[in-house]
Amino acid sequence: MLSAMATCNSHGQDSSYFLGWEEYEKNPYHPINNPNGIIQMGLAENQLPFDLLESWLNNNPNASGFTAQSNFGFKEIALFQDYHGLPAFKKALVDFMSEIRENKVTFNPNNLVLTAGATSANETLMFCLADPGDAFLLPTPYYPGFDRDLKWRTGAEIVPIHCSSSNGFRITESALEDAYQQAQKQNLKVKGVLVTNPSNPLGTSLSMHELELLVNFISSKNLHLISDEIYSGTVFTSPGFVSIMEVLKNKNLMNTDVAKQVHIVYSLSKDLGLPGFRIGAIYSNDDIVVSAATKMSSFGLISSQTQYLLSQILSDKKFTKNYLTENRKRLKQRHEMLEKALQKAGIRCLKGNAGLFSWVDMKRLLSAQTFKGEMELWKKIVYEVGLNISPGSSCHCSEPGWFRVCFANMSKETLVLAMQRLTSFVDSTVKKTNQSRHNRNSRKPKSLPKWVFSLSSFTTARSVKNGA
Ligand SMILES: Cc1ncc(COP(=O)(O)O)c(C=O)c1O
Repeated sequence: MLSAMATCNSHGQDSSYFLGWEEYEKNPYHPINNPNGIIQMGLAENQLPFDLLESWLNNNPNASGFTAQSNFGFKEIALFQDYHGLPAFKKALVDFMSEIRENKVTFNPNNLVLTAGATSANETLMFCLADPGDAFLLPTPYYPGFDRDLKWRTGAEIVPIHCSSSNGFRITESALEDAYQQAQKQNLKVKGVLVTNPSNPLGTSLSMHELELLVNFISSKNLHLISDEIYSGTVFTSPGFVSIMEVLKNKNLMNTDVAKQVHIVYSLSKDLGLPGFRIGAIYSNDDIVVSAATKMSSFGLISSQTQYLLSQILSDKKFTKNYLTENRKRLKQRHEMLEKALQKAGIRCLKGNAGLFSWVDMKRLLSAQTFKGEMELWKKIVYEVGLNISPGSSCHCSEPGWFRVCFANMSKETLVLAMQRLTSFVDSTVKKTNQSRHNRNSRKPKSLPKWVFSLSSFTTARSVKNGA
């Protein structure tokens, strides 16, 4: 009785990324009401600078638009509905985007399309750039939500660009080329590449070399490039953030066809910590894309009141300047706190400079270096340790043992507790492994009789023959 879309599985809801959230919801940690509950470390939410927004709102009680003193008034806001968006808000948003990029590039509000979060922006762009069955290439590991946002309703396909830990998961020319060839083998028409810069889940920003590689690649193959820059304001240490728009500008490509093939996705969910407000945007240099996406934005508009409120917050330049500096400072401190605690527990992370999470290498805790081993470890960490972290397999990582651990959605005290839980788990796992190794060794006779060697060479020869 229902449509194929309503009943199909391609939403990705059954990924361990979302299952972890469900487990957390059943037993959420609370310092007083549920001290043994699961701590949510699988949610890329930024609560660190929240007090700055709260105090701005306290100081600007008319900003909501509901009081008699507001510039707009309830009636104007309640009646205003135009899918081109409130001009004052679009201007304030593009200025904020430039500010994050240290005003090295400017954005034209006419090229901006407002959407209900980056989720809607990414899907809308897919609808504009790909037909069902067309493919986009994405570097792995990637944000698990992309399976839903890019594929589910559009019918587009994702082909992974496999990145590896051997070079810190950097994008290489050969990885791009391999993914392109792979798509061709699958008879998929490649329409573009989508990257997140800074990366979710890696917590690293793309290097100039990678950005130039991407521009050369899409230009030589005549593809689109979507740069999801939702974490651009979270870069807390060097190397800094370079927007794809800056690369186009530096290469004098702004007025060329290549520029028209490049589209930016943005949102205030991470940089301003407002995922509940659903404020997203597409920025495109192609007027046809802007026009089509604007029409499509009817299906996911931002409420007029939200636009009105945010236009005032973002127009307060003193506030945005202080907010961006303070946000970076707090994220840096948190990131250091997490890294130090993990290091103390003997766990290393990928060197990160951005984002609300660290990309953590837990290979040494795996019982087997497989994705099955990774799932076993993940279940132990969720149910026994009481931490919901996201396994690399849910981000399509090609190597088992990596996990994304979020650090900005909780209090300092909760992070300390989470690290205590993890440290005692690591200690007991390492102790158990050493103990079983010791037991195995102590069971072995000190000097082996000759027949053991002949038996072992017999076994090896047989194994090779069987291809084991
Ligand atoms: C890379 C990336 N893109 C898009 C989104 C969706 O963001 P929004 O809440 O603005 O829809 C997220 C959320 O985690 C994300 O990490």
